[in-house]
Amino acid sequence: MHPRRLQRLIEALRDQQLDGLALMPDANLAYLSGLSFHPGKRLTLALVSADGAPPCLVLPALEHGRAQAATHIPMRYFPWHDAEGSTTALAAAVAAAFGLNAHGRVLAVEYTAMRVMELRALEAAIPDLRTRDATPLLADLRMVKDAAELAAIEQAVRIVESALERTIAQIRLGMTERQVSRLCSEAILAAGAEGESFENIVAAGPNAANPHHSNSDRPLQPGDLVILDCGARYQGYISDITRTVAIGEPGETARRIYDLVLRANEAGRAAARPGASGAAIDAAARAVIEQGGYGEYFIHRTGHGFGLETHEPPNIVAGNDEPLRPGTTFTVEPGIYLPGVTGARIEDDVVITADGARSLTTFGRELRIVGE
Ligand code: CO
Ligand code: CO
Repeated sequence: MHPRRLQRLIEALRDQQLDGLALMPDANLAYLSGLSFHPGKRLTLALVSADGAPPCLVLPALEHGRAQAATHIPMRYFPWHDAEGSTTALAAAVAAAFGLNAHGRVLAVEYTAMRVMELRALEAAIPDLRTRDATPLLADLRMVKDAAELAAIEQAVRIVESALERTIAQIRLGMTERQVSRLCSEAILAAGAEGESFENIVAAGPNAANPHHSNSDRPLQPGDLVILDCGARYQGYISDITRTVAIGEPGETARRIYDLVLRANEAGRAAARPGASGAAIDAAARAVIEQGGYGEYFIHRTGHGFGLETHEPPNIVAGNDEPLRPGTTFTVEPGIYLPGVTGARIEDDVVITADGARSLTTFGRELRIVGE
């Protein structure tokens, strides 16, 4: 599985006339090799040459054995010890990957991930290094998920859905957002997740008007809408779901915005099919909320891709006219946010199929009244 991913990468490097790629120890390296590292200050870089030879991995010596045991692809190792530093190991890896005279090579690097430390080290090892942004190339490789990736995502969805069910069943009037958040975290781990996809969001009452709310000690009150946004990680892959529940009987405005958000979510999912663009799906969801008179309160994109990371291409947003391909996974998560009053969001995880789209999340979307 992973050797084929590496082969596709090498073809993409050749298409773009790049000499190679330098990868940080991040999700892209995990995608290609199965290797994951804790981000640290010790230089760790994978060099992939467009010539197709096994990648060269510069890494702290203390990680060497673990990397050899865990990799899914052939790899050449260049370990270094703290006492000697990484310069010699990097020079040897550069020579192995790009030849003894690597002068002026054109390498793709991850502009949003590589730090000055790694860039300076590469510049020192490769005179007149030229760099291009690897981000779009790698995003394109990762956008369409294979069967093994989809199986992991589906399990991540099952885990978070059972955890969400358990959390909602425990919500009581007077609990704080932080207490509910803790219940949710525990339920996600208890259901078999490797961890949470991100810090869950519990936003109640007026706090629900803030899509990026930080959980607070405000107690849940009668009539609150509560936005619960959470995810589970399984075999490296994440899920990302949002449901909005009501504490006791919601008011008329809360009902109205919830119903609009629900219809917008349905319209967004219905617009998803092979060849549809992120812009078209966004427009379908947004039209429902605009026609309902709340367009100015839907203040974010309709969704985002996800997989190894919570936010990946494609963006489900105006301006993204790229046709979506079968196997692409993304969220549909319209919301309405009334500042100082309330808010609602319903988020599903969707995959484009051969002839349409399927929601991986199946958790009920009707407004649930809880905590009484
Ligand atoms: Co979410
Ligand atoms: Co999301």
